[in-house]
Amino acid sequence: MGRDVIVACDFNSKEEVVKFLSKFEHENEKPFVKIGMELFYAEGPEIVRTIKGMGHKIFLDLKLHDIPNTVKKAMAVLSNLDVDMCNVHAAGTKPMMEAAIEGLTRADGTRPILIAVTQLTSTAEETMHEDLLIPNSMEETVMHYAKNAKDAGLDGVVCSPLEAGAVHAKCGASFLTITPGVRFADGEVGDQKRVMTPAQAKEIGSDYIVVGRPITQAADPVAAYRRCVEEFVG
Ligand code: C5P
Repeated sequence: MGRDVIVACDFNSKEEVVKFLSKFEHENEKPFVKIGMELFYAEGPEIVRTIKGMGHKIFLDLKLHDIPNTVKKAMAVLSNLDVDMCNVHAAGTKPMMEAAIEGLTRADGTRPILIAVTQLTSTAEETMHEDLLIPNSMEETVMHYAKNAKDAGLDGVVCSPLEAGAVHAKCGASFLTITPGVRFADGEVGDQKRVMTPAQAKEIGSDYIVVGRPITQAADPVAAYRRCVEEFVG
């Protein structure tokens, strides 16, 4: 699996996302697209078929977390939808992640890439101690959840580019790190706190970077995407 740039298509309607993706006219330049809850819940599974039909790979970011049997059955539906990557919360435990893999695996043995969310970056360490009653440090918790995901047979985790090196050290070089929080050196940071450039993310060993606004809100999104690919894939 090679390094790639995933474009976070955080639009709230099919019209907007199709208009945006139509800017990528060349057949051999169809970005890997991330679809989140907002767009999926607004438009339903048809949005996946539409974007796949336009020639894009899809990371469906629905972060499943439920009892193993429910997650297994939901994953079978996503697998039939032919998404390329999807995810679960590692907090659902190893049995839930194993059930997710089972549900995703098709009769011919193939399946989409499955990654785990460890701790959401919106959860502060103190909140994790107080609300979730997890006494360990954030770093220990993230690494432990990553290891659980690896042990359950998942392919990788979503993490900060700053954690990618440590995740690889703990879970192996082939365990994927998917990292948001990417900005161009001369670009706006916006609400992201800990950012890295595509070149730095490459340096540190990210496998996939998830880039939203630096591409979707650029004056020339195709040029911004190309710049990202050039810096990250090289
Ligand atoms: O626009 P921007 O590049 O900040 O978008 C980053 C994308 O990655 C968004 O879809 C955001 O929800 C997602 N994400 C993130 N930080 C995480 C996990 C996901 O920014 N820790």
